Amino acid sequence: MQQDIIQKLDEKRAAARLGGGQTRIDKQHAKGKLTARERIELFLDAGSFEEWDMFVEHRCVDFGMDSRKIPGDGVVTGYGTVCGRLVFVFSQDFTVFGGSLSMAHAEKICKIMDHAMKVGAPVVGLNDSGGARIQEGVDALAGYADVFQRNVLASGVIPQISMIMGPCAGGAVYSPAMTDFIFMVKDSSYMFVTGPDVVRTVTHEEVTAEDLGGALTHSRKSGVADLVFDNGVEGLLMLRRFINFLPSNNREKPPTWPCNDPADRREKSLDTLIPTEPNIPYDMKELIYKVVDEGDFFELQPEYAANIVIGLARMQGATVGIVANQPMVLAGCLDIASSRKAARFVRFCDAFNIPIITFVDVPGFLPGTAQEYGGIIKHGAKLLYAFAEATVPKITIITRKAYGGAYDVMSSKHLRGDVNLAWPTAEIAVMGPKGAVEIIFRKDAGDPDSLRKRTREYAERFANPFVAGSRGFIDDVIMPSHTRKRICRSLAMLKDKKLENPWRKHGNIPL
Ligand code: HXC
Repeated sequence: MQQDIIQKLDEKRAAARLGGGQTRIDKQHAKGKLTARERIELFLDAGSFEEWDMFVEHRCVDFGMDSRKIPGDGVVTGYGTVCGRLVFVFSQDFTVFGGSLSMAHAEKICKIMDHAMKVGAPVVGLNDSGGARIQEGVDALAGYADVFQRNVLASGVIPQISMIMGPCAGGAVYSPAMTDFIFMVKDSSYMFVTGPDVVRTVTHEEVTAEDLGGALTHSRKSGVADLVFDNGVEGLLMLRRFINFLPSNNREKPPTWPCNDPADRREKSLDTLIPTEPNIPYDMKELIYKVVDEGDFFELQPEYAANIVIGLARMQGATVGIVANQPMVLAGCLDIASSRKAARFVRFCDAFNIPIITFVDVPGFLPGTAQEYGGIIKHGAKLLYAFAEATVPKITIITRKAYGGAYDVMSSKHLRGDVNLAWPTAEIAVMGPKGAVEIIFRKDAGDPDSLRKRTREYAERFANPFVAGSRGFIDDVIMPSHTRKRICRSLAMLKDKKLENPWRKHGNIPL
C-alpha cells in the first residue's frame, strides 16, 4: 500500500482521537472528568474495544457549522468485552460541541443499538452531553426520538444501562429514563427536564443545578438514580462488576461464576437475629449478607425508599435478585416509593430470567393521607402486579411479620411463589395482635385487663407460622441458620422451571 494512504489514515485516526482538541481535553480533566475514550478504556477489557464510525461527520450547514466538523461527531461508539462477555457501548465526548446530539451522532448510537439487538448483548451508554445540537434544530430532535424508539423496543430484550457522567438535560433525560438502570457520578453529573433558569422563571424557585438534579438528589429524593459513585473511575469499575451479574439478553440465563461458598453453609448467628420484642427492629441486610455467596450483595437504590432493600447477589455462583423489607426503616412498611422501587426491580429480574428471593418482615402498608392522596392504591398494586406476573423461580422467606395485604403482595404462595418458607418467629395474620383485638373486641375498650388477655390469646392463635403452614401456604418452617442451604436446594430444584402467562399483547400494569 502506498505510504501516503497509510499516513492519511493515521492522520484521520489521530484527528478523531483528539476529539475537540487538547485544550478542551485539558478543560475536561480540570473538571475532574475523564474523556469519552478514557472512560471506554477503563470500562472494557484491555484492548477489546472495536470502534465504529470514527469518521462520521455531521451534515449541518447552518450557523457556520459546515466549516466546523470533527470526525466522530461527539460520540465514540463500538463494542468490546467485560470479563470476556460482549457489550456494546457509546460514550459521548463533551469536548466536541459539548457532546451535543446531532442527527449523525444519533445514527451512530442507533447503529450499535441495532447490532446489540441482533446479537443479543447489553448496551451501555456513558452520557456527557449538552443535549440536542442547537444548530441542528429538528434534526437533533428526530435523532433523539430514533434513540428513544430503540430504547423501548430493546427494553426487556437486552440489558440497557446508563452512566451519567456529565450534563443530561431536557428531553435528553428520557433515553436514560427508559434504560434499566441509571448510575450517576457525584459532583459532575446532573439530570433535569428543565434547568435552574427555567425553574426560576416559571416557579420562582432558586435552586442550583446540583440541588435540582445532582447525583445525591436523584439517589435520595427522586429515586431516578440507582447508584451514585464518588468519581468516574469508581463508577466504571463498579459498572463492570454489575454487568457480571446480568445475562446478555432475555433468552439467556444469567452467567454462573466459580463459587467457593458451600451451599450448605450454616449461619448460626441468624438463629438469634430476630429480637424477642416484636417492635424492636433488626437489620435485614445482615441476613442478606450472611445468606448470599461470599457476602457479595450488589445493592441498588440504597438511599431511596430504604424500607425496602433490592439488589443482585449470587447463590452457588448464579445470579439472584433480592427483595427484602427493612424493619429498620418505617418498620418495614410498604409505601408508595418502596412499592415502585421494588416493582420495577422485580420486573427487571423477571424479564431477564433472574430468580427472585424475597425476605419478608412487613407490618402492612403505611397509613396516612400523604399515602392515600399520593395514590398508594395504584402504586402498591404495581408491586402486587409485578410479583404476580413474574414467572421466574420465586422463593420467599418470612422472618417475622407478614400482615394483611402486604403478606399477599410479598411473593406469597397465592401469587405463585414456588417455595415459601417461614422462620419459627414468623407471624402471618391479617394484622398485629394489638390492632386486631382493638377492632374485634372494641366493646372491651375500657377494660385493659381484658384487652391484654385477648391480645395474648390472639397472639398465641395467630402470631406464628403454623396456621399458614396448616393450609400449605407455607411449605416449611425452618431454622434461620439453615436459610442458605434451603434456598440453594430450592434454586437447584427450580433450575428448569417452566411457566408461561397467557398470550396477550401486553398487560396493563397500574402505571
Ligand atoms: C450545541 C453545545 C450545546 C448544544 C453545549 N454546546 N451544549 N453546542 N448544542 N446543546 C457547546 C458550547 O457551545 C461550547 O462550545 C461547548 O459545547 C462547551 O459548552 P460550555 O457551555 O462551554 O460548557 P459548560 O460551561 O460546562 O456548560 C455545559 C452546559 C451548557 C451546561 C451543558 O453548555 C449548556 O447549557 N448547554 C445548552 C444546554 C441545552 O439547553 N441543551 C438543549 C436542551 S433541550 P465551544 O465551541 O464554545 O467550546 C434538549 C432537547 C432534547 O436537549 C429533546 C429530546 C426530545
